[in-house]
Formats: sequence, structure tokens, C-alpha cells
Amino acid sequence: MNNNIFLIGFMGSGKSTVGNILSKRLGYSFVDTDELVEEDCEISICTMFDKFGEKYFREKEYVALKKVLENKNQVVSTGGGIVTYDKSRELLEGQEVYYIDVDSETVYQRLKSDSTRPLLKNSSFEKMSDLLSIRKKIYENTCTRKIDGKKEPEKVAEDIIFNMTVIHDKP
Ligand code: S3P
Repeated sequence: MNNNIFLIGFMGSGKSTVGNILSKRLGYSFVDTDELVEEDCEISICTMFDKFGEKYFREKEYVALKKVLENKNQVVSTGGGIVTYDKSRELLEGQEVYYIDVDSETVYQRLKSDSTRPLLKNSSFEKMSDLLSIRKKIYENTCTRKIDGKKEPEKVAEDIIFNMTVIHDKP
């Protein structure tokens, strides 16, 4: 029993904000796979996509996820596309995974001035919406529970705690 809680969902769904709150509430450490990749590779994700492409990033993300699984008592915020890489999705199977669900309008409002997500660079609302609807099914198939991500982050964290089915030992 590793007591880890994974958060999945589209870019802008609030995984990091909710994850931070949740980790404090549970007394767990907070881990963000995007940050781990950037620290390990010593470059930003944007630069990595530009220089080496998405597949390279997905492999680094997989390696980061594998390392995360060596530890316990963590709330783990994952990159929005982690579930699209079979090897990473397989690692998430059997874990306690919460899908923070948001609609495309919410994502658009939250990220319209963001320049840190390579996949949304110069993307139209329609393209972003299409990507979200393709991924939605994968998030749903990977998660143990879907959580409404349109609420305030504190409320989303509370909803996750309320829905936690696994009994966690105190860290
Ligand atoms: C990505 C989401 C990003 C980051 C990378 C790719 C995606 O993470 O991993 O830019 O494919 O959806 P966030 O979901 O934390 O923005």
C-alpha cells in the first residue's frame, strides 16, 4: 500500500493547485511530474518539445512517473498528456487516480494568456476542444474516480477527500 494519490486531467484543470492543497490536508508530500522532468533534464518542457519533440518528452515523463512510484504518501500532479503514453498509463493502472474534469470553455478562460504549454501554442479554441474531447475518454478509462474541476480548488480537494475509497495509513 503506497498511499499515493494521482491527479490526472487536461491542461488548466487545476491539478497542481488542487494537489498542493490536498497534500497539505493529508500531510503528504506534493510531487509534480512536469517539475521532475524539468529538474532531471535541466531544460524547460517548452524547450524540450521544440528541440526533441513530444515523444522524447513522453519517455522522460514515463521515467519520472516510474521514480515517483518508488516513494509513498504523495499527492502527484501529472502532465495532461501522460495518459496518452501506453507505458505511463499502464503504470497508473491499479493506483488511486482522480480525474479532474473541466470543460473546454473553462480551460480556454484559464489558459488563454499562457505561453508555457507547447501543445496549446497558436492553438485555436476548436483545436484545443478537439484534443480535450479525444483525451476525455482516456482520462475516464484511467481514473478510479472523476471529480468536477469547475469548483474552487479547496472544494475540489475536499471532494477528492470525500471520495477517497482507500483507507490511508498516517504518514
Ligand atoms: C501536456 C501538459 C502539460 C505538460 C506538457 C504536455 C499535455 O502539463 O506536461 O506541456 O500534453 O497535455 P499540465 O497538464 O500540467 O499543463
